[in-house]
Amino acid sequence: MYKTQTIKEKIVERYSSLVDNSDQFTNAVKKPLKQTFRINSIKGDKDKILNDMRNYDASIKKIPWCDNAFETDLTNLGSSIQHFSGQIYIQELTSMVPPLIVSNIIKQKTVLDCCAAPGSKTTQMAEIMNNEGHIIANDARHGRIKSLRGNLDRLGITNTTVTLRDFNSFPNTSADVYLVDAPCSSEGTIRKKNAVARKWRQHDYDRFSKLQKNLLKKACEMAPKGSTIIYSTCTLAPEENENVISQILDEEDIDLKKININGLKLDNGVTNWKEEDYNKEVKKCARMWPHHNDTDAFFLARMEKC
Ligand SMILES: C[S@@+](CC[C@H](N)C(=O)[O-])C[C@H]1O[C@@H](n2cnc3c(N)ncnc32)[C@H](O)[C@@H]1O
Repeated sequence: MYKTQTIKEKIVERYSSLVDNSDQFTNAVKKPLKQTFRINSIKGDKDKILNDMRNYDASIKKIPWCDNAFETDLTNLGSSIQHFSGQIYIQELTSMVPPLIVSNIIKQKTVLDCCAAPGSKTTQMAEIMNNEGHIIANDARHGRIKSLRGNLDRLGITNTTVTLRDFNSFPNTSADVYLVDAPCSSEGTIRKKNAVARKWRQHDYDRFSKLQKNLLKKACEMAPKGSTIIYSTCTLAPEENENVISQILDEEDIDLKKININGLKLDNGVTNWKEEDYNKEVKKCARMWPHHNDTDAFFLARMEKC
C-alpha cells in the first residue's frame, strides 16, 4: 500500500506541469478504476449477452464513445460464464482506443499487430473485422504468446496467425495497418492496483524510448505507401511518446494524422519536455489523461506512410 501511494505521488509530481488541472489529475489518479468490458459478438448476439450480464449487475453502463464498451460495479467478471466462454472480454477502456481509430479501414484487410500479447487489441480488431481478412499477431515472449493463443481460442478468433519473434528481426511484411502497441513503463495504469511495477528512473525511460523507437522504425520501414501505422503506449512519459514520434518524423517518410473520436476528450501531444523541443507536428498525437474521461492514461499516434 505504502509503495503504491509513493509511486502515485511521484507520477502526479512528474506530470502536473503538463496537465490543464492538476487537482483533478491528482484526484483521478487516486481513484480506483471501475471494471470495464466489451462484448464479443463472434460468440453470440450482442443484446442477449448484454441482457445476461445485466442479470449480474442491472446498473451496467454503456460507454458513450465506444459502441461495444461497458462499465460495471462488479469486480469479479473474470469468474462469469460469459468470460469463460469468450462472450465478453475484460479490457481497460484506453486499450480499446487503437482498434477503434482503425475500425473503418481494417475490414477485409491485413493487419500486422507487432507486439500483440495477450491479445486485447488483436481480439478486438478481429471482432471488428467479423473474423475476416487477416491479422498477424506477433510477440517476442513465449510466456505471453500462450495467453494470446488462449484468448484467441476463447473468443473464437479464426482470422489470426500467431508468430513468436522479436519484431526487430521480423521479415518484411506488407499490410494495410500496423499496430505498434509498445512495451513501456506502464505508468498510465496507475489507477489499477499494483499495475505499475516500480518507480522508474531517467535511464529506464531512456531505455524504453530506444526500444520503442526501434520497433516503430521497423514497422515504418516495412510499411507500403498509403498504409497506416498506429503507435500506442500506456505511459505518460514524453520520452516514450512524443520523443519517439518526433525522431521517427525526422527520419522516416511518414505523415502524422490528427485523431478524433466522438465523445472522447483527447489532449494534444506535448512539444517540449525537460528543455528538449520536439518536432512541432507531434501536437497531432493524442494524450488521454485520467481526469478527462475517467480512464487510465494513454498515448496514441496515427501515421500514414508516404
Ligand atoms: C503493451 S504490451 C502489448 C499488449 C497487447 N497489444 C494487448 O493489447 O493485449 C507489449 C508487448 O510487447 C512485447 N514485446 C516486447 N519487446 C518486443 C519485441 N522486441 N518484439 C515483439 N514484441 C515485443 C511484450 O512481450 C508485450 O507483450
